[in-house]
Amino acid sequence: MPYSRRTRAPATARAERAEREGNAEVSLERDLVSPDADGDDLQIEAALRPKRLAEFIGQGRVREQLSLVLESALRRNRPPDHVLMSGSPGLGKTTLAMIIAAELSAPLRITSGPALERAGDLAAILSTLAEGEVLFIDEIHRMARPAEEMLYLAMEDFRVDIVVGKGPGATAIPLDIAPFTLVGATTRAGLLPAPLRDRFGFTAHMDFYEVDELEQVLHRSSRLLGVSLPPEGAHEIARRSRGTPRIANRLLRRVRDFADVRAEGVIDRDVASAALDLYEVDAEGLDRLDRAVLGVLLRKFGGGPVGLSTLAVAVGEEPETVEVVAEPFLVRQGLLARTPRGRVATAAAWHHLGMTPPPDAFGAAHFD
Ligand SMILES: Nc1ncnc2c1ncn2[C@@H]1O[C@H](COP(=O)(O)OP(=O)(O)O)[C@@H](O)[C@H]1O
Ligand SMILES: [Mg+2]
Repeated sequence: MPYSRRTRAPATARAERAEREGNAEVSLERDLVSPDADGDDLQIEAALRPKRLAEFIGQGRVREQLSLVLESALRRNRPPDHVLMSGSPGLGKTTLAMIIAAELSAPLRITSGPALERAGDLAAILSTLAEGEVLFIDEIHRMARPAEEMLYLAMEDFRVDIVVGKGPGATAIPLDIAPFTLVGATTRAGLLPAPLRDRFGFTAHMDFYEVDELEQVLHRSSRLLGVSLPPEGAHEIARRSRGTPRIANRLLRRVRDFADVRAEGVIDRDVASAALDLYEVDAEGLDRLDRAVLGVLLRKFGGGPVGLSTLAVAVGEEPETVEVVAEPFLVRQGLLARTPRGRVATAAAWHHLGMTPPPDAFGAAHFD
C-alpha cells in the first residue's frame, strides 16, 4: 500500500544514512524518543492535537496571556498583534498556531523559514493574504535575510516593497497588503535578529511540562485512541517523557503495543516501566542521546568545561542537535550547566550515571 510505504520511508532513510555515518545506534534510538515528528507521528498528531485553547493542557501563563490578546482583538474587531512562540521541539508551538487561527475564526496559511529562501517567496504569500488571515512561519530563525527584511515592513506597515530592475536603476514599488497576524515559532529565539524579535507584540515562552500535566495529555490521548490507561501507568509514562507532549504520545503508543502483546492490554505501572526499559528510556526520561552526551562529558572530558562543537563531534551528532534536542532537557533536569567556558556536568549527572566525581570536577568554571 503506497500510503504505508510513504509514512515509513523517512525513518528508514534516516536509519540507512545513520548506518553509513557509523552512528546507527544513536539515530535509530532517536526515532522513538526524538521530539521531532516524522512518519506515522504526523498522522496521529493531527488526530491528537487540541483544537481550542480550552483543550490545551498546561502552559498556564502562556494560555492566559494569549487568551487576553485574542479576546481583546476579537472585541476590537482587529487582527491581534503578531505572536512569537519559542521553545523546544514537541511542546505545542504548531498546535498553538492552529488554535490561534481557530479562536479567531480566521484562515491559516502555513510556511516555514527554510521555504522562504528569496524575498519573492515571501512576497507571493504576503500579497495573497486575506484580511485577518493568520500566517504561521515555523522555524522562523531559518528564514533568509532578504525575506526577513521584507517581513519587517510587512509586520509594521502592512506593506511590501517590490523591487523592479537591478543596480542603480532599480525602483521599489510599494504594495499594500491586507492586515494579518504573523505567528512565528522558533526552537532558537537567540538566533532571531533583534529587529525581528521587537516587531512581535507578544512572545510566548513555552516550557517543558510538569509530570501531572503530561498525565492529563496522556489521559486525553488514550481516550481519543481508545486505549485504557490506569493512573499508575499514565504516571510512569509521564515521568519518562522528557517533559514533552509529543514524546508522551509516542511512548503511549509503544507501551500500548507492549501491553497488547505481553500483558493482555493492561498498562499498569510495572508494564509501563518494563516497556520503557525495553525502549531504553531511563527512569528520568533520558534517552540514548541524552545519556551519550552526559557519558562523553564525564568520561572523556572529566565533567567539563567543554565546548559544544567538541562535545557534538564526540557523540557523532550535529552541534545543533545536541544544543536544541538534548541540552535543554539536561539543563532543566539539573544535570548539565552551560557556562561561558563550556558545558559542565553537575554533581547530579555523576550520580545519575553511577559515577563518583573526581575531586577537581567542579573547578573554577562551575562556580565562577
Ligand atoms: N498542551 C498540549 N496539550 C495536549 N497535547 C499537546 C499539547 N502540546 C502538544 N501536544 C501534542 O504534542 C504534539 C506535538 O505538538 P506540536 O504543536 O506539533 O509541537 P511543536 O510544534 O512545538 O514541535 C501535538 O500533536 C499534540 O498532540
Ligand atoms: Mg511544530
